[in-house]
Amino acid sequence: MSKIRIGIGEAERQAEAGTGQTLLEVLREAGAPIAAPCGGLGRCGKCRVRLTDAAGSREVLACQTLVTGDAWVETDAPGGGAILTESADTAAVDPGAEGLGAAVDLGTTTVVVELVDLKTGKRRGTESAWNAQAAYGADVITRAQYCMEKADGLETLHKVIRGQVDTLLRRLDCEKKDLKEIFVAGNTVMQHLFAGLDPRSIAVAPFTPLTLFDGDEPQEPGLAYAPCVAGYVGGDITAGLLASGLYEREERSLFLDIGTNGEMALGGRDGFLCCAVASGPAFEGAGIACGMTGVEGAVSHARFDGARLSLDVIGGGKPRGICGSGLIDLTAALCQKGIISAGGLLLGPDEAPEEFADTLGEDENGNGIFYLTEDRSVYLTARDVRQLQLAKAAVAAGIQVLLQKAGLTVQDVGRLYLAGGFGSYMDVSSAAAIGMLPAALVQKTVLLGNASLTGARMALLDHTAREKLRAIQGACRYLELSGDADFSREFPDNMYFYEEDEDEWN
Ligand code: FES
Repeated sequence: MSKIRIGIGEAERQAEAGTGQTLLEVLREAGAPIAAPCGGLGRCGKCRVRLTDAAGSREVLACQTLVTGDAWVETDAPGGGAILTESADTAAVDPGAEGLGAAVDLGTTTVVVELVDLKTGKRRGTESAWNAQAAYGADVITRAQYCMEKADGLETLHKVIRGQVDTLLRRLDCEKKDLKEIFVAGNTVMQHLFAGLDPRSIAVAPFTPLTLFDGDEPQEPGLAYAPCVAGYVGGDITAGLLASGLYEREERSLFLDIGTNGEMALGGRDGFLCCAVASGPAFEGAGIACGMTGVEGAVSHARFDGARLSLDVIGGGKPRGICGSGLIDLTAALCQKGIISAGGLLLGPDEAPEEFADTLGEDENGNGIFYLTEDRSVYLTARDVRQLQLAKAAVAAGIQVLLQKAGLTVQDVGRLYLAGGFGSYMDVSSAAAIGMLPAALVQKTVLLGNASLTGARMALLDHTAREKLRAIQGACRYLELSGDADFSREFPDNMYFYEEDEDEWN
């Protein structure tokens, strides 16, 4: 056995490792914070750590490095930054209810726990963290694959997420046994993992979950879940629709929750048409050369002031990378300046407008690179633009197909509701400028904050809200887009960065 000392920022942990183990496995077992968006396949380059052992000190990819002896491994302390804990106030409580409960927003990227007084409905405290399952993959597919590949994969992921919620509760000076009930809202895969149910069937066609959490799942005392619509439209969406109240409105609205998957619902009082698109991890900063989640050091917004690029950096310090909202702003700004063509080509210094030549370079294949910082440590590549094109095309095509199947045009949509962290931080005008969202809806946008958390709290406090959740689930008609001819046609059309042209949406 080798002894591994793990430095996490200022803190330190000890672990033991057997021969043949990768550093990533050791870090996972030790519960050290490490992001492994590609699940350890060596593709994303985001599991970089500093390793000091008999061979010296160097940076390595944790997933590609075998332990060969005693070592000292340094990882970044979990960053601060923008976990969306903001949720709307709610009023209704069950008559006669007493004690404490917890509402949990179980996101793929972040987890938020609220401690709530069941009698008054008041929030006693909120704690949040980056989902500890990030060490097993950035998205739900990678985590479901981990369950396929490892005999104890499901048990591991189940324990990790249960342990994390317990830790967040302890930070709120509370133990699970002190609570009357916990109400959980998350996507279908995350709810399966939390419940200890096998999510593998969701990762392969026809993407059927074991349960939709409508009461047929194994019951655990003191634990309840938001009902799901399908494998990729989960309890976070039914909870979000409940929180938005749009299920009671006559007008037709579009509800969007964009992350590694883009989940959407179009409708109102008469029911919803829902779908999900694989927007990929670009919006979470994965698969992007200098991509990162929205933590300290991430460029969250970007705009040109003449030829000068001005950046907003989370935490205000030196830029370390680009998060999803920054990527959208930057792309919109570069398109506007003619540095990215309508087809998505990032131009090199010889082809782009002359005034930007100093900020541009080329890779060995002649593809353009745009440098955001003078020291050239943060940059955007042609491949990054391609990743964003794929992600934004999926979202835009999903919206268009929903509109078509519902027999509506964008003018028929009363409001655009954006739920979740990414939707709250991105600049809606930039998203419209790159053709991801209809420009006609920019002025009609309502930001919901953490709608999944609001919905979970409503259901925790008020049993009539749970009936409404079930009614919403029943009113949602799911549209499977993989293999859908309309989606297959719309998707490539939306790869372009159009000039603002509303006709594209009709
Ligand atoms: S490269 Fe190691 S987790 Fe992706």
